[in-house]
Formats: sequence, C-alpha cells, structure tokens
Amino acid sequence: MRFSAFVVALASSATTSLAAPSSSKHVLHEKRDGKPHMWEKRDRATPSQVLPIRIGLRQRNIENAERYIYEVSDPTSSKFGKHWTAEEVANTFAPAPATKKAVLKWLVDSGIERPRISLSKGHNWVEFDGTVEEAERLFATEYWHYQHVENGGLRLAVDEYSLPEHVQQHVDFVMPTVQLDGLKPIANTNHGRDAMAIIPGGASLGSLPCGSLITIECLRKLYKFPVGKTAAKGNEIGIAEWADYLYEPDLPIFFKNFTTPQIPLDTKPEFISIDGGLTANLTTIATGSGVEAALDVQSVYSIIHPQGVRYYQVGDGINVDSVGTFNIFLDALDESYCTYEGGDQPYVDPAYPDPNDNELGFQGPLQCGGAPKSNVISVSYGQIEGALPYFYQVRQCNEWLKLGLQGVSVIYASGDSGVANRYNSGYPNSCLNSEQQFVDNNGTRFSPSFPVNCPYITSVGATTLIGNDTESGEQAVSRPGTGPANAYYSGGGFSNYFPLPSYQASAVGHFLKHYAPNYGPNVYNTSGKARGFPDVAAIGLNVATVWNGSTYGVGGTSASAPIFAGIVTLLNEARIAIGKGPIGFLNPTLYKYPEAFNDITIGNNPGCETGGFNATPGWDPVTGLGTPNFEKLLPIFLRLP
Ligand SMILES: *[C@@H]1O[C@H](CO)[C@@H](O)[C@H](O)[C@H]1NC(C)=O
Ligand SMILES: *[C@@H]1O[C@H](CO)[C@@H](O)[C@H](O)[C@H]1NC(C)=O
Ligand SMILES: *[C@@H]1O[C@H](CO)[C@@H](O)[C@H](O)[C@H]1NC(C)=O
Ligand SMILES: *[C@@H]1O[C@H](CO)[C@@H](O)[C@H](O)[C@H]1NC(C)=O
Ligand SMILES: *[C@@H]1O[C@H](CO)[C@@H](O)[C@H](O)[C@H]1NC(C)=O
Ligand SMILES: *[C@@H]1O[C@H](CO)[C@@H](O)[C@H](O)[C@H]1NC(C)=O
Repeated sequence: MRFSAFVVALASSATTSLAAPSSSKHVLHEKRDGKPHMWEKRDRATPSQVLPIRIGLRQRNIENAERYIYEVSDPTSSKFGKHWTAEEVANTFAPAPATKKAVLKWLVDSGIERPRISLSKGHNWVEFDGTVEEAERLFATEYWHYQHVENGGLRLAVDEYSLPEHVQQHVDFVMPTVQLDGLKPIANTNHGRDAMAIIPGGASLGSLPCGSLITIECLRKLYKFPVGKTAAKGNEIGIAEWADYLYEPDLPIFFKNFTTPQIPLDTKPEFISIDGGLTANLTTIATGSGVEAALDVQSVYSIIHPQGVRYYQVGDGINVDSVGTFNIFLDALDESYCTYEGGDQPYVDPAYPDPNDNELGFQGPLQCGGAPKSNVISVSYGQIEGALPYFYQVRQCNEWLKLGLQGVSVIYASGDSGVANRYNSGYPNSCLNSEQQFVDNNGTRFSPSFPVNCPYITSVGATTLIGNDTESGEQAVSRPGTGPANAYYSGGGFSNYFPLPSYQASAVGHFLKHYAPNYGPNVYNTSGKARGFPDVAAIGLNVATVWNGSTYGVGGTSASAPIFAGIVTLLNEARIAIGKGPIGFLNPTLYKYPEAFNDITIGNNPGCETGGFNATPGWDPVTGLGTPNFEKLLPIFLRLP
C-alpha cells in the first residue's frame, strides 16, 4: 500500500516537469523482490551522470509463440517438423510499427531529441544515452548507487520503475533499472572428491564394460544405441562452453584408449569463437577450467562419430568471469536478438569491446549473428532463477523457443545440487528465504535453476548405475559429499516463474497427486501450475574422460546432457537418412511416449534441509521421464513426419 502511494506521487511530479504534455499516468512496471543479497544501497546518483538506456520493445505475435512452437513440435499436429526459416522468425516477431512509433513518440515528447535515439538491427531495442535526471523522469523512479559487499564495485540501479500506461503495453523492460546481479554461468561438472576420481593410467578398467568407469560400450549397452554411420555434413552436434577451454592434446589419447570403433586420432571439432572465445591452448589448461570441455566433447564424439562436433567457445574469459549469461551466445546465433552494440543488459550481460581493464579482454564488437545453428545444441551450464530479473528470463526463454521453431533441439544440464543451487557469485549453495531472496545454507525454499526452468528447453538430470553392469539398472545420482559444494544430486524442481507447459500437464499432475512431499507451498511451488524439471535423465557419474593427459571418472549433469544430446543426434541421423528433417523441440514428443524411457524409481535430490523429491514411477522432478531407450525411440522418431 505504502509502496504504490510512493510511486503515484513520484509519477505526478515527474509528469509536470515534462517538456511536452504527456498523455497517461505512470503505472508500476518492474520491482525487485526484496533487498539483493550481496548489495548495499548507498547514495543517490548524480543527476547529470549519463546512462546507456535501453528499452526492450514488446515483440509482435509473441503471445502466439507457444501455439507456433507446438504446431511444429506436437506429434499430433499436421505441421509437425515444418520448421521456420530465420527470416520467418525475424519477420514474425519484429516489433509492430505501432510499438516503435508509440515508444519513440513518448521519448521525443519527453524531451529526448530524435537524433539521440537509435534502434537495434532487429528493431527489438530502442537505445539512447540519457542522464540520470532524464531517466528518473521517464521511468518515474530514483537511481541509487549500490555497492557490492565483497568486491566494493558500484552499480546504478532502482528499486522499481514505472511507465506511462499507454507505453507499458509496448515495452518488455528497461535497463539499467532493477538489474543488479551479473552471474557467471556455472559449469555443472561435479568436482567433489568422490565424483571425480583419477584413474591411474586408465589401467584399472576391469573386465565389465561398466566396471570402474562408464565407457562408450557401457552406454551403448545401457541405452541400446548403435555406432554412428554417416559423416554427412549438416548434422554436427553443437557444444557451447563458457571460459572452459578444450585442451586438444587430450583428444587423441581419449580416442585411442576409450573409443570403439576407434575414432581417427586427428579428429577435431569445428571451432567457433564467439566474442573472443579462445580455443585449445596449452597455457589455459593451467587455469584448471578445462574438465568441462573435455567431458562434453569426448562423450559426444564417442556417441555420434563419424558425425562432427561444432564447438562454440563463448566469451573472452575475462568478461565472462565477472558477469554474463547465455545472451551473448544467442546474439551470435540470431542477429535479430542483438542489441545495437555491446551486451544485452549492461551489468547482467558482458559488453564488447570488453570494458575490463585487462589486456586479454576481447576488443572487437559484440558478435551479432554469423554463428551457424546446429540441429542439437548441448549446454552444461546453468544459473539461478531467483537471481535474475523475471522479464529478462522471459525474453531469453522466448529466444530458445525461436531456436526450436527453426528445428534446433536445445538441451541443458539440470544442475548438480538437487533442489538447492550450487555456489554462484556469492551465493553459497543457495536456498531461498520466504521472499525468494537468497540466504545461505540455512534457507528453506527450493531454488530452481535457469534456463532449465524455461519450458522450451529439454533439461537432463543425472543417474548412476545401481551395480557394476547394465543389468541391475539405474538410480538417481547420490553423492552426499563433505559439504554442500561437494554434495551432488540431480537438479530438479518447479519454477517459481514459468507456468506448466501443456505437454507436461498430465505427467506433473500424476507426480503431485501421488508423490508430492508434504513440505508446503513455502518450500516449493505446489500449485500444480508450475513448470517442472528435469525432462529426462542419463548417466552422470564416473564417465571416462581424459584431461591434461590423465584419465578421470567425471560426474555431473554436465555428463548427462551431452550423452542425451548425442543420442538425439543419432535419432536425427536416422531421420535424415530417410529424407526427413531434424526433430527440433523435443519435449512434446518425449512426454507423449514415456514408454520409450527407462523409468527411474530409486533415489532423491536432497537440499535446503529436506530430502528433496523422490524418484518415483512416472515423471518426477529428479530424473524426469527417465533415461533413453534408443531402440524404442527410433521407430517413434522415424514414423513422425
Ligand atoms: C591409455 O592406455 C595405455 C595402454 O593401456 C596406458 O598405458 C595409458 O596410461 C592410457 N592413458 C590414459 C590417459 O589413460
Ligand atoms: C593461447 O593463450 C594465449 C594467452 O591466453 C593467447 O595469447 C593465444 O592466442 C592462445 N593461443 C591459441 C592457439 O588460442
Ligand atoms: C597438467 O599436467 C602437467 C604435467 O603432466 C602438470 O605439470 C600440470 O600441473 C597439470 N595441470 C593441471 C591444471 O593440473
Ligand atoms: C546456519 O545454521 C548453522 C547451524 O545450525 C548455524 O551455526 C549458523 O549460524 C546459521 N547461519 C545463519 C546465517 O543463520
Ligand atoms: C560387481 O558387483 C558385484 C556386486 O555388487 C560384486 O560382487 C562384484 O565383485 C563386482 N564386480 C566387479 C568386477 O567389480
Ligand atoms: C507457482 O507457479 C505459478 C505458475 O507459474 C505462479 O502463478 C505462482 O505465482 C507460483 N507461486 C509461487 C509462490 O511462486
């Protein structure tokens, strides 16, 4: 109550000072939930300070996007598999002329001269440099300095802001406003001692295919998939890495010791550097950040070869270490998504040329389009739903949807900390308090991950073998570990932001009806109206990986995602061989055929001082539908148009 009175008062004083009479009153548009965990509010911003102001325009037809994606991905649709071109996507969602006009008119009427204003390439963003005083007037707000409690860094931000009623319908969000958290995407490799055991010299492999390490023979037996057949161009699998570099000399050692039939030792991925991403480098392995890349590339190669791997190295490793989410990757894949120049959200996404005072920073412009799309893209990184602004996540989620429309299967690791969240940017193994702010290990509310909370992504949880052969089956991964950062459980739960997608309604309904734990609505979203994840699962422990010349058994949903993605690439290979197209967005098909999965019913994903959820018959928020059975999936995918 007090809050809205405050906004109205500000709005009316702002309106009276406008250069030209403005039309409607301001209405609240975005408000931060509570006090940010790591930031202290300091003093008011200087009125004359200049800000790079960006206004994200509402996209045309975005309200129909969900219908469009199901038209091409629901097996019962007559348009199944009829994917769109990039041009069709850009034209369909470009903001309406009326949207651009309304926003430009409002700005010009408010005293921002037209020559100061520019539009992004895709006409999705309006950009101008404005003073704090102008921004406070336009958005009926107050800018304050916030200081990071650990590194002392200062940011300008507001607690909430408003837009004129007639403009609000045309705007997704404005920045910089409520955004404060720039998070590094976190690799979902489990570095806990138990989960990543070094195997001396690879000598103790044992006689069983799943003996002391999970090898390709073990995976083939477990998931019943064949050796890849074709080397045809066009079905390369995409692997995206953020500041984890591939140490190329490991590849021939892995191929020689761990692939059957042996992959030729000179096989290499196609490297695609985005925004200064470095490729294989002797120097960079010393940073200790390369296990993720080794795991991802080696596990997919052993599944999909002789098809190829396309390796997207995203970010210069300087910017990405400080801030950044997945938007710069999307910018490179989709020119129309880009902002005019620099990052998508100053303070949340990295800006290029890199403004950091570091000679290694990439000095070129942000890459806008030009990176090829792949039929399947596997990403083993994740972030925290509660730490990123709502509108920001919605906009990015729609972008993943657009890739699905174009026939791309987007596959993400579901996270390694059960219902909690791994350490990230000052949030130690976070849970949320009742206001959904981060607290510490004592927090009680489950903390879902981003972007697996987005319904247009296929999220992969982790399992482990019950015994040392494939016969005894799988259970949800469980590595209690010595502390929260070492514990490892399959990421899963329910989004607090994204609603339940229709393809999942009956699976989630079944789980909640029969197996919902009784923690109450303050611990997780029990409404039955929220997106649940993961969608599927695959082995995520003890996977044979060569890194820095030694063999390791590596764990993490980081292993599960590329394994599942590799199997989808084999399904695409079989479809392409009979003249059909790639599958694209998978979930509507996967949920229609739960019998094509090995249902995992043992284990759970504890966190936030609870036992988390249980793996149960049918879908569950630990292992999803279960692990893939290629022999059952193949006829389904071959039958589809
Ligand atoms: C690869 O296999 C050879 C022969 O078994 C063994 O000597 C070597 O240590 C292995 N290398 C790794 C990295 O496991
Ligand atoms: C290796 O890294 C150094 C410094 O990080 C960089 O200058 C060089 O270009 C890199 N080499 C390759 C082949 O990427
Ligand atoms: C990589 O291996 C070399 C020797 O084989 C070792 O000196 C170096 O410390 C290792 N690097 C890391 C990051 O483990
Ligand atoms: C969290 O719980 C532990 C053990 O109960 C306690 O020692 C610690 O002070 C608590 N931390 C906070 C921030 O409440
Ligand atoms: C496999 O597991 C069984 C039962 O857990 C055990 O008796 C056997 O020794 C194991 N075999 C190997 C080769 O590790
Ligand atoms: C639960 O999810 C629904 C659907 O997205 C949403 O409307 C509701 O606000 C969520 N509840 C909480 C407490 O986050």
